[in-house]
Amino acid sequence: MNKIGVLTSGGDSPGMNAAIRAVVRSAIFRGMKVMGINKGYQGLISGDITEMTLSSVGDIIHRGGTILKSARCEEFKTEEGRKKAINVLRVFGIEGLVVIGGDGSFNGAKKLSEEGIATIGLPGTIDNDLAYTDFTIGFDTAVNTVLDAISKIRDTSTSHGRANIIEVMGRNCGDIALYAGLAGGAESIIIPEVGFCIDDVCKKLIQGKNRGKLHSIIVLAEGIVAENPQNAFEVGKEIQDKTGIDTRVTVLGHLQRGGSPTADDRILASRMGAKAVELLANNETGKVIGIKGNELFAIEIEEALQKEKKFDSEMYELAKILSI
Ligand code: ADP
Ligand code: F6P
Repeated sequence: MNKIGVLTSGGDSPGMNAAIRAVVRSAIFRGMKVMGINKGYQGLISGDITEMTLSSVGDIIHRGGTILKSARCEEFKTEEGRKKAINVLRVFGIEGLVVIGGDGSFNGAKKLSEEGIATIGLPGTIDNDLAYTDFTIGFDTAVNTVLDAISKIRDTSTSHGRANIIEVMGRNCGDIALYAGLAGGAESIIIPEVGFCIDDVCKKLIQGKNRGKLHSIIVLAEGIVAENPQNAFEVGKEIQDKTGIDTRVTVLGHLQRGGSPTADDRILASRMGAKAVELLANNETGKVIGIKGNELFAIEIEEALQKEKKFDSEMYELAKILSI
């Protein structure tokens, strides 16, 4: 394989730049040319493509976002859109493609692969919602960002003796809430995998207050809102009304998507990026790369997408025990 392409797609995540750098530099090291495709599948359809060099990925390993930009592209979901994209790949002489994104992007990669395009996927999403891999690129940074917010909110929560609800991202997956909640010593973690009973949350708040707790942190995953008629602010109001404890709500939103990637995310992205190029060089395609027990592996895209995410109930129970 002489010429490969790389794109980032879907919601961006910290570490995507480190992954692009690893793809570009390890491919050039192997004597390949690398084309950077801008704005995900949208740029693939429109031919928004430029050649990457060793220096075009200089000074980006520590930056959040993605220098290739990202997009959500409805046209790519149509057969006609994908035909255009495949034609662009032919025109540019791109023989293999690295797609960095989440499950939606992997569905797109699967379709390209079925059309005979040599494709490799790297899991780039803060949500950690891909079942086949222990971790996705960007998750660790997002957890640390939430943790920083929890620590700051805890300061003011303690000063005022309040309860604070912190709503975090994750789409339908509660991992950001679970990991940041355990690390931040949250009193309650509300996630879609478990659901919640507002009276239990209130009971815990009152018990905590009675034993002298000065603060109460409730981490609420956005995925629960989809299943619940109340949003975070309404949950906060009900808690305040039922407990008499002054309650504030913070929705962290998109700040969880940005920021300099942690060492873990940079290392994961660098290892996975180099692995993607190795697979393409060996003509081992139609796969996504994952990590289990600190070992990288590759599996068929379809198999990866079919796996069902297992909820870490042990971690959830531990967080409950440690916050009594
Ligand atoms: P993520 O990759 O982070 O899960 P999205 O779900 O928004 O983000 O998907 C990113 C893009 O992947 C979509 O905008 C679309 O271009 C492409 N995509 C998603 N699902 C499909 C599909 N079933 N077929 C083809 N392309 C898809
Ligand atoms: O998939 C990443 C993510 O940040 C989710 O956690 C969140 O639900 C969604 O993307 C937000 O999407 P947008 O950036 O389009 O608002």
